[in-house]
Amino acid sequence: MSRFSRNILITGGAGFIGSHVVRLFVNKYPDYRIICLDKLTYSGNLANLADVKKAPNYEFVKADIADFGEMERIVREYDVDGIIHLAAESHVDRSIVDPFVFARTNVMGTLSLLEAARRYWEKSETEFEGKLFYHISTDEVYGALELTHPEGIDSPFTTTASSSEHHHAYGTEFFLETTKYNPHSPYSAAKASSDHFVRAYHDTYGMPTLITNCSNNYGPYQFPEKLIPLFINNIRNKKPLPVYGKGENVRDWLYVEDHARAIDLIFHKGRPAETYNIGGFNEWKNIDLIRVIIKTVDRMLGNPEGESEKLITYVTDRKGHDMRYAIDSRKLQRELGWEPSLQFEEGIEKTVRWYLDNQEWMDRITSGDYQKYYEEMYSGR
Ligand code: NAD
Ligand code: TYD
Repeated sequence: MSRFSRNILITGGAGFIGSHVVRLFVNKYPDYRIICLDKLTYSGNLANLADVKKAPNYEFVKADIADFGEMERIVREYDVDGIIHLAAESHVDRSIVDPFVFARTNVMGTLSLLEAARRYWEKSETEFEGKLFYHISTDEVYGALELTHPEGIDSPFTTTASSSEHHHAYGTEFFLETTKYNPHSPYSAAKASSDHFVRAYHDTYGMPTLITNCSNNYGPYQFPEKLIPLFINNIRNKKPLPVYGKGENVRDWLYVEDHARAIDLIFHKGRPAETYNIGGFNEWKNIDLIRVIIKTVDRMLGNPEGESEKLITYVTDRKGHDMRYAIDSRKLQRELGWEPSLQFEEGIEKTVRWYLDNQEWMDRITSGDYQKYYEEMYSGR
């Protein structure tokens, strides 16, 4: 008899969002065994989990979700009864350069995990009872919204996350759970396809599945190819800040720990077969957000105010660059009572502080050394 009440497999746990989810579950649920599965691609970094690696309810497995045989073995060996699936290729710019790996991991990888879980769970005594396949998706599957109000408006909806210092909407339309899928980038097309497979497994086999679509996340441990950590690091190193196009695209930003809290709540209380959108009603034009980052980093580094503005460099726009994302998360608020905990200005302050205080983490990534962590941490274990 296992001393654990549940065996939860979290894929992509060494990545940005996954590491926050693993940390939350390991600390909050000592009676769950948390199996963190990750291929450790360029964006997987075990340093993100250094603080939980010795916890008695934590295990790490290095594996590729697209390897079906391995997925079957792992689900069986750990007697997995819940899956929180975050492993994915996640960067739009990379998907434009190399779309195949996005189809392989996001589509075939998700399918192999679904099929491995289905075969194992169907054979178990209780079948699908008490099981859950929870798939983490993105608002990008819905496509792009128009910038109908380029100067910004106060949206009728607010949450704690909504910025207090500027208008927090740039249009009157928002993505709802019922919005038709209309992905534009190879990344979002692959995520959309994986979402369809997840729903198909519910509709065809009756497998208990759940999907959530979240807006842009920010916070500690994000790989510095994404806007916020890249710009913080470039300001610190006095390197150019490449702003795509005119910097007018709008993104809806949520602090990563608030996303992790939503995942915890939905994993335990969400209704199977449902979709929930997650977001904080907190839209920012890229250029405005960049100015906030510059101001915050300059202040913390003791630079004269606005000094790093001169690093702003307008570059050729991203191909097919989606104009605006804006999530309507009222269903989650209404049904499960979720609210973000952190106001945006506070979240940015914490985030900049974290990157400046953890320069070694950043420098090990930019030097490529972080990928040696696996050997260092697991040799002789
Ligand atoms: P990330 O790139 O930081 O992490 C992805 C993790 O998946 C990495 O640890 C990587 O090693 C692992 N991985 C990649 N391919 C794998 C494979 N074939 N087998 C096993 N592991 C593999 O990404 P993230 O930003 O943490 O995103 C996590 C999930 O959340 C993704 O599914 C993404 O689509 C979704 N999401 C992200 C955001 C965001 O703003 N970052 C917003 C909404 C949804
Ligand atoms: P990113 O962090 O890549 O997230 P996503 O593309 O998933 O929204 O980019 C956020 C926004 O910032 C997006 O509109 C593209 C823009 N951007 C830049 O202007 N310059 C950059 O160097 C990067 C990485 C992004």
